[in-house]
Amino acid sequence: MNDGKAIITTLIPNSKPISALPAPPGLPLVGNLLSLERERLHLTLEQWRRKYGDYYRFRNVSREVLVIADAEAIGTMLRDRPDGFLRTARLASIAREMGFDGVFTANGEEWRRQRPMVMAGLDPAHIKSYFPALVRVTERFAGRWRRAAAAGTAIDLQADLMRYTVDVTAGLAFGADINTIESDEEVIQQHLDKVLPALFRRLMAPFRYWRYFRLPADRALREHLAELHRAVDGFIATARKRMDAEPSLRASPTNLIEAMIAARDTDGSGVDDADVAGNVLTMLLAGEDTTANTLAWMIYLLSANPAALARARDEVRAVLGGGPLPSQYEQLAKLPFVEACTNETMRLRPVAPLIILEASRDTVVAGIEIPAKQVVMCLMRAPATDERHFHDAQAFDPARWLDPAAKSAASAKRVAMPFGAGPRLCPGRYLAMLEMKMVIAMLLAGFELESVGTARGGEPREQLAFTMAPVGLRMKLRGRA
Ligand code: HEM
Repeated sequence: MNDGKAIITTLIPNSKPISALPAPPGLPLVGNLLSLERERLHLTLEQWRRKYGDYYRFRNVSREVLVIADAEAIGTMLRDRPDGFLRTARLASIAREMGFDGVFTANGEEWRRQRPMVMAGLDPAHIKSYFPALVRVTERFAGRWRRAAAAGTAIDLQADLMRYTVDVTAGLAFGADINTIESDEEVIQQHLDKVLPALFRRLMAPFRYWRYFRLPADRALREHLAELHRAVDGFIATARKRMDAEPSLRASPTNLIEAMIAARDTDGSGVDDADVAGNVLTMLLAGEDTTANTLAWMIYLLSANPAALARARDEVRAVLGGGPLPSQYEQLAKLPFVEACTNETMRLRPVAPLIILEASRDTVVAGIEIPAKQVVMCLMRAPATDERHFHDAQAFDPARWLDPAAKSAASAKRVAMPFGAGPRLCPGRYLAMLEMKMVIAMLLAGFELESVGTARGGEPREQLAFTMAPVGLRMKLRGRA
């Protein structure tokens, strides 16, 4: 292994080892563990970045972690996948234990096999053909919010938005109309929303205690996972039945689950039952919190910025001409300001503020020698909110995304990477953008925002639980006359 290192130092004489980088002071044995409050990890790392610069290191007990906050270096690493950088071995093994290893956690050949199927299920043409069903789900969602407005009740923003995103993902990826929006029974989200926080808790734990003893949270997690696996088996069984009744679906699958089952049943495909189930759960998890949290942040930021809110509202009402929500796919292309609000929200409140990588081989990035198996945390918000790249970088100013002259949007997009970059760029980004435009258009066309905020007032707290969410956001609406 040291051969690789020797090559690196010979080729790049000015490179330096990670140990030469600055680091926050830590304690013997535990290192910086006591400063690493899990739910605020991204904030702590951003704070250290202000002190130590774009490249530094910290230690979580015995694990030394390299932190990089420079957009160019981050882009280089994200593009050097799947070969040079991987999802961490720790993520892959913990996800496997929990039964949801799929395209998000896979590496190498396994990832290469799964990615095209997922991409095909989420490509723009596919999403366009799903549009009529998306309109139906959005109508139901508008109905839920109309009832809340008429009753004068405060809406738990994130919980409601998650009902929407789960219904949409299940409809698009599995052809299943689960309609949690209109259900008051126990719904799948009550189990889903426990999984990512638990995954994150285990990822950050100094050792894998749950293999030796289970805390109440671990016992509860087992129940939630069992319920979810039952639901996933149900989606797969229903899709299989549909494919048996209509064999042409094997050659031309209409959604992700059908494509995966067809591959599973083809000799030599390398796709097995566990891959199908793992990816069904992966889709639900990857599509739920991310989109719902971004929407919650966007609604909050719009309500806190009345001029942007008024401009977005005028744009929506002009395009819909009095209609309650977009009814034609083409209408969504006519909402550039709403799209700019989405980009601006993701710049300031990226729900994936950290992308965590593991080097697969010895390499050098930005003059830093990175040995194989080194964990690297990429700080995604730091460059996107840096005055070097964006004027008045902390301000919510969606118009910056519409002005080609000022810090050209193209270069802005290379610095703000809310969906990641390179070969593992989020395959759900078209769907996410469509969902976000639909919900914002429906909200601004049919309602006035009476209040959006937390019980204690002020900025909502940022909480990292794999994805980053606003804590305790409630919204009151008034139906438009
Ligand atoms: C606003 C909403 C969303 C955001 C901000 C977001 C963000 C991200 C990010 C940062 C990554 C990692 C990319 C990388 O490593 O370079 C990712 C990966 C992924 N996302 Fe999303 N995502 C969103 C919505 C969705 C949706 C709706 C789906 C599917 C229904 C989805 C499915 C996935 C999958 C499967 C991956 C793993 C891709 C791979 O490793 O090859 N995402 N997403």
